[in-house]
Amino acid sequence: MNVLVTGGAGYIGSHTCVELLESGYGVVVVDNLCNSNPESLKRVQEITGKSLKFYEGDVRDESLLRKIFAENEIGCVIHFAGLKAVGESVAMPWEYYDNNLNSTLILTKVMKEVGMKNIIFSSSATVYTADNEMPLRENSRTGNCTNPYGWTKYMTEQILSGMAHADKEWGIVLLRYFNPIGAHISGRIGEDPRGIPNNLMPYITQVAVGRREKLSVFGNDYDTPDGTGVRDYIHVVDLAKGHVAAVKYVVNNSGCEVFNLGTGTGYSVLDMVNSFVSVNNVAVPYVITERRPGDIGTCYADPAKSAEKLGWKAEKTLDDMCRDSWNWQKNNPMGYGE
Ligand code: NAD
Ligand code: WQD
Repeated sequence: MNVLVTGGAGYIGSHTCVELLESGYGVVVVDNLCNSNPESLKRVQEITGKSLKFYEGDVRDESLLRKIFAENEIGCVIHFAGLKAVGESVAMPWEYYDNNLNSTLILTKVMKEVGMKNIIFSSSATVYTADNEMPLRENSRTGNCTNPYGWTKYMTEQILSGMAHADKEWGIVLLRYFNPIGAHISGRIGEDPRGIPNNLMPYITQVAVGRREKLSVFGNDYDTPDGTGVRDYIHVVDLAKGHVAAVKYVVNNSGCEVFNLGTGTGYSVLDMVNSFVSVNNVAVPYVITERRPGDIGTCYADPAKSAEKLGWKAEKTLDDMCRDSWNWQKNNPMGYGE
């Protein structure tokens, strides 16, 4: 079966392409490369020894999508394509609503036309409200998002679940990712953010490799064991395997189901720094600064539903995540842009 992967050249998409190819699926990628480099797809093929088909273009381009469905027999779509920077979404709300909502609306319009109605969507733990008790379950409260990015994920969930409610032919899986980090064990593909990284692990690796002077730890007065923020970090290869499990699920089940993809364990910012330093034997200078606006103290998943219904569980350890993030960064100090 062929899987259409939108945004397949990106961080999570490229790792998912590897796992799909290694599980025997054919892979067709559509990506406009607005936040990625086609080198990632070359390396996916090098890692797996298998080829994939790549269409460079925008998911909002209806005629391109029709051409892709006409030229390939697609059994399932994984929809990663979208913009993902929280701060940027506050500065450019229109671009975020346009890209993230219209990509899904146009993609599903063409899917309806061709009668292929299996889709997996990249949602986020950001859809949960800040006042939930931990761990977060799929039926924990959602909404009250604090930025346009979060609203696009919330709204897309509403759009897709409404469609599944109205038309029983749809099979839809909403995957709520926690904090993906790490890289493929080969060190050939990994996260390559443009500009100053927003997220913790790419910032740590860029400090370790000498691209940035020091890490700012955003607040040490949270109600957590060491006062720094606690998150559920998940290895990107585990996350990618969760998508393969979701493909198997969605082709056999109609309706709309939500799944957390997390480990169920929270680590603090200082846990992350200390593990990274001890596993890799490199220095990561840091300073404690003010809290980052919009951050919460603690966030981690209950992954029990994914284990039960998808038969999927994260397997890699924090040491694996730290080792593989560093292996990618040290072998590719400037990411794909060398
Ligand atoms: P990424 O930016 O590396 O990948 C997204 C890819 O989509 C990029 O290759 C980009 O060029 C492409 N793209 C964007 N808009 C497009 C469009 N209109 N048409 C075609 N291609 C387009 O991001 P990622 O970290 O791999 O995230 C993938 C998905 O997972 C996103 O939807 C993101 O919101 C979601 N997500 C990511 C995280 C995370 O922490 N990385 C957490 C939760 C959810
Ligand atoms: C993790 C922890 C920070 C950077 C974001 C999005 C979320 C999802 C994943 C897409 C927090 C601290 C960070 C730094 C720090 N993305 N930190 N210094 O905020 O949990 O989630 O990415 O859906 O929507 O909001 O991840 O990696 O930014 O932060 O101290 O330079 O690290 O305060 O406690 P976050 P993060």
